[in-house]
This record gives sequence, C-alpha cells and structure tokens, in this order.
Amino acid sequence: MNHFAYRDGRLFAEDVDLLALAEGVGTPAYVYSSATLERHYRVFAEAFPRSALIAFSVKANGNLAVLKTLARLGAGADVVSGGELKKALAAGISASRVVFSGVGKTKAEMRAALEAGIHQFNVESEPELDALSEVAVSLGKSAPVTIRINPDVDAKTHAKITTGTAETKFGIPWERARAAYALAAKLPGLSIVGVDMHIGSQITELLPFEQAFGRLAEMITLLRADGHAIARADLGGGLGVPYRASNEPPPDPAAYGALATKLAKEQGVDLILEPGRLIAANAGILLARVTYVKEGAAKKFLILDAGMNDLMRPALYDAYHEIVPVSEPAPDAPRAHYDVVGPVCETTDIFASDRELPCLNSGDVVAFMTAGAYGAVMASAYNARPPAPEVLVKGAAWSIVRPRLSDDALLELDRIPDWLAD
Ligand code: LLP
Repeated sequence: MNHFAYRDGRLFAEDVDLLALAEGVGTPAYVYSSATLERHYRVFAEAFPRSALIAFSVKANGNLAVLKTLARLGAGADVVSGGELKKALAAGISASRVVFSGVGKTKAEMRAALEAGIHQFNVESEPELDALSEVAVSLGKSAPVTIRINPDVDAKTHAKITTGTAETKFGIPWERARAAYALAAKLPGLSIVGVDMHIGSQITELLPFEQAFGRLAEMITLLRADGHAIARADLGGGLGVPYRASNEPPPDPAAYGALATKLAKEQGVDLILEPGRLIAANAGILLARVTYVKEGAAKKFLILDAGMNDLMRPALYDAYHEIVPVSEPAPDAPRAHYDVVGPVCETTDIFASDRELPCLNSGDVVAFMTAGAYGAVMASAYNARPPAPEVLVKGAAWSIVRPRLSDDALLELDRIPDWLAD
C-alpha cells in the first residue's frame, strides 16, 4: 500500500497536490512519502522477532531525510561504502546498528567502520579477511565478522540483479565456507559472530528464500561442529515489490518473516535483515513533464523532460514502471500507444515501448510509480543534465531534501589545468 492516490482529479502524495508541487519545484523531480516509508518499515519489522536488526539497505535510497525518517523508527543500516557509512551515521543511526556489506571494502573504509564501532562486517573473500585482520590489529580492535556464504540457489529474478548463484562475484562458494571460517578463526583481530547471505533482489517467490535458509541452517550446524560461535544470521534483502498493478503480488512480508523466524528459532540465532526495495520503492515517484509529442515514421513518441540519467532502471534492466498522468483522465478518455522516451542522446533512453496511455499533450505532467528505490541513487549528470531533485512529503508539508544543481554549479565542478588557462 502507498500514499499516492487521485483526489478530486489530481494525483496526491499524502495531502500534497502533485501538479502544484511540479509547478513549484519544477520537473523532473523525485517525491517520497513519509507515511509510505513508515508504513513499509513497520509492516516489515513486525514480521520478525523484536531482537531482529532491520538494517535498511542504504544503496536503495541514500537520501539523508529518508534515512532519518527510518532511523526514527529504529532502523539500522546496511552500507557498502565509506560514503554510505557516513550517511547512515549522519542520519542518526547508531554505529552499533550498521552492517557493512560489499565485495571491495578498502582498508580505509574498514578503518572508518572499526573506529565507528559497527555491528559487523559481512566479509566476501579470503583476501578481505586478511585485510580486515591487519586493519583491526593496527587499531588494537576486534572486528565482528560474518562471512557471506553463497548458497548457490537461483533467485529467479533478472539476471543482472541475481547474486546467489555460483557464477556471481558475491560471497564465498559453499564448498570453501568452512575453510574460510577456519581462516577467520586463526587470524588475529577478527571475532566470528555469525553467517550472512543475500541471494538477489526483486525476488517475487518465497521458494528461493526457503531453499537458501535451509542451506544456511545446514551450514550453521557444520560451522558450530567446527567450533565456531554462530550467534547471528544475516539474511540480506531481496524481497520484491509489485511494479505492475496487473501482476500477482509478491510474497507478503509476514510470510517471509515467518520463514526467517522459524530459522532463527530452530538455530538459536539473532536475525539481521537488509531490506531496501521493499521499504523504499513504492514510497517514491518521479515526476516528469511532456516536452513534445512526436509522430515518428512508425511510432508516436512521448518525449519527457526526465531521462535515463534520472531513472536508469528501464535502460539498464528493461525495468517496468507504471506511468500515470498527474491529472486524472476521465474513464472514457481517448488512449494511444506511445514509446515514452527521454531527451538523452542514446537509443536506450527509453522508459517504455508501445505503452498504452491516456492521450497526453505537451506540458502534461506524468508520474513514474515505484521509483523510490534505485532511482535517485543511480542518477548521473550524463549529457550535462543535473539529476532530478528530491522532495519529501509529510502530510500536507513538503520539503526539498536534495536541490537541483544549476547548470552553473555542474559546470563549476570541472577544473582547467594551468596549461589550458587563457
Ligand atoms: N543486501 C545486499 C548485500 C545487497 O546487495 C542488496 C542489493 C540488498 C541488501 C538490498 O536488496 P533489496 O531488498 O533492495 O532487494 N539496482 C537494482 C538492484 C540492485 C540490488 C543490489 N543489491 C535495481 O534497480 O533493480
């Protein structure tokens, strides 16, 4: 459920009229709903025992105001860089509720995380164990460690966002897990606290989770037999969201929570979850304005003022986002088939092909739904286009939580070396 709905013929975000907002802030612009973020967090958290750490995956939406909204509800953070760690701490998330994931943590990032005193490092390779050990020893600290185990299950999601099969760069292969734990136990400065997995993103069935949790339970038994103290199981993120109104809804967080809770009870471990998309995706939209309606030789193009630099998902993953007009069309309004595109000079700057929509005109404002996760965070300034600003709504109030950079501000980021100076 989200808080974007038509009211008296206009699309609203909570109590904010989005057409008025588009006039005030300009387009393109991301808009997030506090009530939706809060609701999703609560529904998710309630599916797990109170002791579970719900570490919001900052990569899904790293806006400080979004993080602060979640921090106030008790969320921890799953970070994958020194930058994300800084953001989580700046949002008021206690370091003791931060987990550090990712295959390429640098020693500088490890140092920052150890100094902050994070909850745990999810280590993804043997050389990373060596590096973390070295850094921890140099600081006279002990690093709490889990090893990300690749359970080799098929998450049945888009190939570009699956991570749990043997072919990906993520995690330690199942067959090497016990040896990796033996290495971690031997190295100074490391303290083994549990196990970790993450099998992919936008997973819409429970079965892959069930299989992976089963594999993890087997591994916990083996590792304990080897003498390791396994007190935590980090199950990663990955639960999918409905991008298409017409699709079957993905599994209910409660059903997913029940599976995880069963594992926790049977194995006697504390749970850590790293949801990203499930919390943020349906809590955000991208507003864009129609610049032109162009009649091509074979197609009709809706050319928007948002481009692939603002919302990359369709270009990168052929992702589907619902597109709705901000002014509600009459039920019998004429409809047309459009290719919905951006202004970027790339053939792949296309949001939707042959999409049936109510007829639209230049100047009309549309909303891309389900754009709150992996939207603004993946934006770039390609074509010297400043990425869309971000707005957070709460009830009838709204606030620009990341402004649009001016063309001049973008220009000033570049520097001229001495030999080119006039
Ligand atoms: N934990 C780890 C270790 C991850 O790699 C990810 C996502 C998450 C948690 C959060 O997963 P979620 O709950 O959001 O599914 N840019 C892509 C998605 C990339 C996901 C990367 N890892 C997209 O737009 O679909």
